[in-house]
Amino acid sequence: MHDLSVGILGTGMFLPPDLLTNHDLEKMVDTSDEWIVRRTGMKQRHILKEGIPSYTMGVEAAKLAIEDAGLTPMDIDLIIVTTEAPDFLSPSMACLIQRDIGAKNAAAFDMNAACTGFVYAVVAAKQFIKTGYYRYVLIVSNEGLSRITDYKNRNTCILFGDAAGAVVLGEVPGEYGIKESILYSYGDLGHNLTIPCCYISEEDKERRPSGMYRSVWQDGSEVFTFAVRAMTDSTKKVLEMAGKTPQDIDMIIPHQANIRIINGAAKRLKIDDDKVMAILDKTGNISSASIPVAVDIASREGRLKNGDSLVMVAFGGGLTCGAIYFIWGKNQRH
Ligand code: ACO
Repeated sequence: MHDLSVGILGTGMFLPPDLLTNHDLEKMVDTSDEWIVRRTGMKQRHILKEGIPSYTMGVEAAKLAIEDAGLTPMDIDLIIVTTEAPDFLSPSMACLIQRDIGAKNAAAFDMNAACTGFVYAVVAAKQFIKTGYYRYVLIVSNEGLSRITDYKNRNTCILFGDAAGAVVLGEVPGEYGIKESILYSYGDLGHNLTIPCCYISEEDKERRPSGMYRSVWQDGSEVFTFAVRAMTDSTKKVLEMAGKTPQDIDMIIPHQANIRIINGAAKRLKIDDDKVMAILDKTGNISSASIPVAVDIASREGRLKNGDSLVMVAFGGGLTCGAIYFIWGKNQRH
């Protein structure tokens, strides 16, 4: 193993221009702006126009991240795409993005850890770079969730939006980059959140009375309880591994599923509100794209300074969860 530190060199994102507001949803299902804001914190979501493939969002986010890193597509050695809603099972979204950005030297594959996908991908990418196998890895979290949302089901359709977030990872000086990480999976709890694909059980059919079988179904309160505990415990564990406490960090960038989940975890960790990055009022739940989009916004708004200590933490389908402790150090390419 090379003794090198791996960090984020560049970030990018794409949010489709069309908006779906709480008031729009009031016309589609029996809900209200007041209920959605109070129970989730969400006000609007971006939705990709029908007929446009979802991976095109990732192409735009990827180009911005590569440019932000001061690289060209030809420099990229590997593309990992995280997604819950691929346009095709084959070709992978990663290959579609590789083709469209002209990353001719890159290997490419998709990875699915649901909303935890970005955290899993960063940890995987880090291994490729640390071993010296690859120099620059592009991660694109590409989530066209409107494509797997049943807009007749008020329990889920108020939650999801479309977006892509991207980062380029590479070597950074030792004081920056990823310091500790932890990944978990709980397959025994997977039945609490399902999106059928090539096999649909009778139970999955019954849970989707509108007949849209390839849509998200979840036991909201089971996932909620898991989420608060998973975000709290993963953050505590990764900080403990780094010899830090929640009070030592400058910012926590959590998966954006529900403001009550985020606030619940922050309260248990005794982290002040001003250290919590929340964007879900404008994006809804964008699954694995939540963290890279939030990181891109925080970076471009100047909310992240080199040397800031951060935790990225997510939970999601699988069920899965994970956290990364790292020191921000962009434009510090080695
Ligand atoms: N508008 C109005 N009322 C609603 C709506 C709505 N959109 N949705 C549900 N309700 C009703 C319910 O029917 C229920 O009514 P009842 O008491 O008459 O039965 C009442 O509101 C309360 O329902 P709960 O499900 O208990 O509402 P809760 O406060 O738990 O909020 C929510 C539901 C927002 C789904 C919450 O449970 C949650 O955020 N869970 C976690 C979801 C999550 O994070 N998933 C992540 C995975 S996403 C992925 O991987 C793609």
